[in-house]
Amino acid sequence: MLLIAIESSCDETAAAVIRDDGEILSEIVASQARLHEEYGGVVPELASRAHMERILPVIDAAIKRAGVALSDLDAVAVVNAPGLVGSLLVGVSAAKGLALALGKPLVAVNHLQAHIYACRVANNCEIFPCVGLIVSGGHTSLYLCENPLQFVLLGATIDDAAGEAFDKVAAMLGLPYPGGPQIQRAAESGNPKAFRFPRSYKNDESNLNFSFSGLKTAVRYELVGTGKQSFADLDISEEKRCDIAASFQEAVVDVLATKAHQALKKTGLRTLCVGGGVAANAALRMRLESDATRFGFKFYTAPLRLCTDNAVMGAIAWERYRAGLFESLDLDVHAGLLRAQ
Ligand code: KG4
Ligand code: ZN
Repeated sequence: MLLIAIESSCDETAAAVIRDDGEILSEIVASQARLHEEYGGVVPELASRAHMERILPVIDAAIKRAGVALSDLDAVAVVNAPGLVGSLLVGVSAAKGLALALGKPLVAVNHLQAHIYACRVANNCEIFPCVGLIVSGGHTSLYLCENPLQFVLLGATIDDAAGEAFDKVAAMLGLPYPGGPQIQRAAESGNPKAFRFPRSYKNDESNLNFSFSGLKTAVRYELVGTGKQSFADLDISEEKRCDIAASFQEAVVDVLATKAHQALKKTGLRTLCVGGGVAANAALRMRLESDATRFGFKFYTAPLRLCTDNAVMGAIAWERYRAGLFESLDLDVHAGLLRAQ
């Protein structure tokens, strides 16, 4: 049996054809990173327009590359939450049209659950039950993932997402968007102990939330002081830029790893799965690998291309299909965070 999974929640238009045994027959991702680069972040209106231009070619390409016909599909899966509403609507409308035309069931996919499920796809092994840490441009949250159908929110950021902080600090340092990979590169030549940046909630085990706005402000003060000086006329040495990048990255990694470990202790689970764009960060991966050995838990993540947004993670749709969880053509989109499901 075959399904097509469609993803358009943020700035990637993606589709994948996936067999019910988990085999990925094709995967296509059309990134809009270039389009949003000059604005230093995703512009929702531009994103939805670009999705509209790309969605049908991306679906066609996924079908063609899989070497199948549309009529071979047994279901149509689509991410309907969370994300940018205008962006989600494009994928969901295309999926509804396809499901209606083919007379096949429509399956809804939660983007955050799918990010965690990417760890299962990538490692081809059982990951449930686990603690799921999602760190992306739009989200930073911890979940208790009982099974592929049941996720309970343990904590989330109360302000910026970790990826957003990477992107904003990169912009302050004069580095291009998306900032995560740029900060990582600059950090390689910097000293992570050069600046001691704040680590919100790090030592509060009873609270699994995150906060990155204070860290962002601390970097700002370090660069331009507390006045109104703009970053445009900022003149810093390459050494200071790299030291700030390394110290900022160290603070984010320290908080993410510490809170993930606290979530494992709180739930009594021994498996941690990490997904989302920031999971591509090499320093975070190294820290989690060493924590896993030190504290005796299993750590799973996915290769870089499956950490950032893609449609392969839509493989979770087969779990919903097998449970008979189908949607009507009234399926709506939701911007907000998953609390419990
Ligand atoms: O999951 P994703 O592709 O899209 C969202 O759903 O947000 O995540 C994108 C985010 C961006 O903020 C980007 O800067 C960050 O992931 N990112 C990284 C790295 N690669 C991507 N952050 C830190 N280090 C990286 N290597
Ligand atoms: Zn994502």
